[in-house]
Amino acid sequence: MARFPLCLNSAILVLITCDFRLVTATDRPPAPVNVTVSHLKANSATVSWDVPEGDIIIGYAISQLRKDGQMQRSIREVNTTNRACVLWDLEEDTEYVIQVQSVGLNGESRASKRVQFRTLKETDWVPSNSSNKGEIIN
Ligand SMILES: *[C@@H]1O[C@H](CO)[C@@H](O)[C@H](O)[C@H]1NC(C)=O
Ligand SMILES: *[C@@H]1O[C@H](CO)[C@@H](O)[C@H](O)[C@H]1NC(C)=O
Ligand SMILES: *[C@@H]1O[C@H](CO)[C@@H](O)[C@H](O)[C@H]1NC(C)=O
Repeated sequence: MARFPLCLNSAILVLITCDFRLVTATDRPPAPVNVTVSHLKANSATVSWDVPEGDIIIGYAISQLRKDGQMQRSIREVNTTNRACVLWDLEEDTEYVIQVQSVGLNGESRASKRVQFRTLKETDWVPSNSSNKGEIIN
């Protein structure tokens, strides 16, 4: 009776082991710290972070996940020293979870801590025409 679950367990273990080996293959930069969300609006938010000193960082990668597990988005920028990024096209009044990775010469860092935020509700007034959409801020 115990056989079938045992088999299942070892199959899962193999998968995890493979994954682990891939991820630890190279020297990677340290993960970003102090990840914060600001300029929170109904449809956009700004993510910023700090990078521990030491390694050469050439870019960043952000993964954005809706709290309910849907609609994952990855943003990846290299050849930039930006420590902030605007997330656009968000849904109002929705919870998102983001993580940031540094991109170094030998690959990406581990992911930062997860940061969760909730977009604001749309208000009744029509917002002014804004051309500031999805740009990387300097
Ligand atoms: C993270 O934030 C703390 C507190 O503001 C600051 O002391 C620290 O230097 C920051 N870390 C980095 C790597 O900038
Ligand atoms: C970024 O890339 C452009 C073109 O690929 C290059 O001319 C520029 O020197 C690069 N900047 C940095 C900081 O590496
Ligand atoms: C926004 O743009 C539309 C069309 O481009 C224009 O008719 C409207 O007056 C603009 N509204 C504001 C607040 O600028």
